[in-house]
Amino acid sequence: MRIVIVSNRLPVSITKDKKNNNKFQKSAGGLVTSIGAYTEKMTELSYAWVGWPGINTTTKSEQEEITSSLETIHCYPVFLTEKEMDKFYLGFCNRTIWPLFHYFPTIASFEKEHYDIYKSVNLKFAKALNNIIDPKEDIVWVHDYHLMLLPDLIRQNFSDVPIGFFLHIPFPAYEVFQLLPSKWRIEILEGLLGADLIGFHTHEYTDNFLRATLRFLGLENHFGVINNKGRLTKVGTHPISIDYLKFNKTANSISVALKAGEIKNQFNNKKILFSVDRLDYTKGIINRLLGFEYFLDQYPDWRERITLIIVVVPSRTGVYHYQQMKKQIDETIGRINGKLSTVEWNPIVYKFGSLDFEDLAAFYSASDIMLVTPLRDGMNLVAKEYVASRVNKDGMLILSEMAGSAKELLEALIINPNSIEEIGEAIKTALDMPKDKEAQIIESMQNRISNHNVFRWVSDYLNELNKITLSQKQLE
Ligand code: UDP
Ligand code: G6P
Repeated sequence: MRIVIVSNRLPVSITKDKKNNNKFQKSAGGLVTSIGAYTEKMTELSYAWVGWPGINTTTKSEQEEITSSLETIHCYPVFLTEKEMDKFYLGFCNRTIWPLFHYFPTIASFEKEHYDIYKSVNLKFAKALNNIIDPKEDIVWVHDYHLMLLPDLIRQNFSDVPIGFFLHIPFPAYEVFQLLPSKWRIEILEGLLGADLIGFHTHEYTDNFLRATLRFLGLENHFGVINNKGRLTKVGTHPISIDYLKFNKTANSISVALKAGEIKNQFNNKKILFSVDRLDYTKGIINRLLGFEYFLDQYPDWRERITLIIVVVPSRTGVYHYQQMKKQIDETIGRINGKLSTVEWNPIVYKFGSLDFEDLAAFYSASDIMLVTPLRDGMNLVAKEYVASRVNKDGMLILSEMAGSAKELLEALIINPNSIEEIGEAIKTALDMPKDKEAQIIESMQNRISNHNVFRWVSDYLNELNKITLSQKQLE
């Protein structure tokens, strides 16, 4: 058996070094971290990963060179043109679906040309898969909102191959999904129903999808199974997770402990608040900064005794709202630091860039409080990674109720990210929390994440996929 993973972005993105040579760089985001953790453990022949290599290249020779170097790591590139990048990726994916599915309808655009190119890129992926899929051996697993038409396109060419689909972002409430023009929303639902199993992170997203299929396609479900003209699709909740042991062991390693010690020394053993996200307006970064400012205004005794370290990883910088967000973050940090800094202390330390794995683990280890405040987030793996990294069972997680992970990390300090006061007061509560209570909370969350780690997520998903394909065979 081989798993063919399909996602818009490959686990590595190709960039150019100073001499204009191609080099591989790990792609950013939760999809790559979670699926990558699983593929890292797989034997050579048992998977293939199909997706965009992160570079626009038009020359055939360069495409061939990239294709052969990616093949050595089981990756199969689907090249996109500049126009496709513009209308498909920056356009329909990140200016229509991303904002709409994260409940930002007022900034979603609805351009027919973007949708047309979304369709043609999904078709391009389907064509590429025709040369890759071996229907006797393979299971196909399609990921995320870029490729929602793909399951049905694959089904048209391979009637029996098992197809799974997993959505890494929220599936919105009916009234929000309804904002998509009717032809688009019907085609998207039908595209998804080409899969045997459709997975979501939370029951809420699953219910939203089932309601949409009932209202827009008139399809009832029986315990999550939809029968669409004799073809069964199971719709289920499968909260994604992390490689718990990898984070826990790394945090426990000597090199990371040394780095964490250096970070603490650098900040003179002040309390450290930490946050890390991709640059995204969904992540609630501005409210987080304002919450910290509120805390320092309300509790001035804490000034010069605490620092917020905020890491923002560049993302989708070709989209206007991301550029605006970057500007707003820079300005807000500048304003707060300008207002409160002293000769010896900056309340906020800001890095716009990415961290390598060891550095990230060191920041998780060195931080007394982790601030995760998205206005909306499908899951949020960073919250789970912080908890997994607390080898001494200390520290505290402040977590937005709008993140999928809040459904599992119930013991965290749960806040509403729209309330600056709630964020600020949660920082105070975390600082005042007795050590034994911290230990109880962290341990309980660690138990849950280590049981429901990413390997369990994959095996539960694949078992469910197997079950539904067997039911389909019995029906035929
Ligand atoms: N991450 C990363 N590089 C960094 C910082 C973070 O690859 O410099 C990873 C982080 O470890 C996490 C992922 O990016 O696994 C972010 O996933 P999350 O679900 O929190 O949010 P997403 O970016 O998918 O919206
Ligand atoms: C989120 C999405 C992924 C995406 C990642 C990074 O995690 O669910 O599908 O790959 O963000 O975004 P990018 O646009 O750079 O691929």
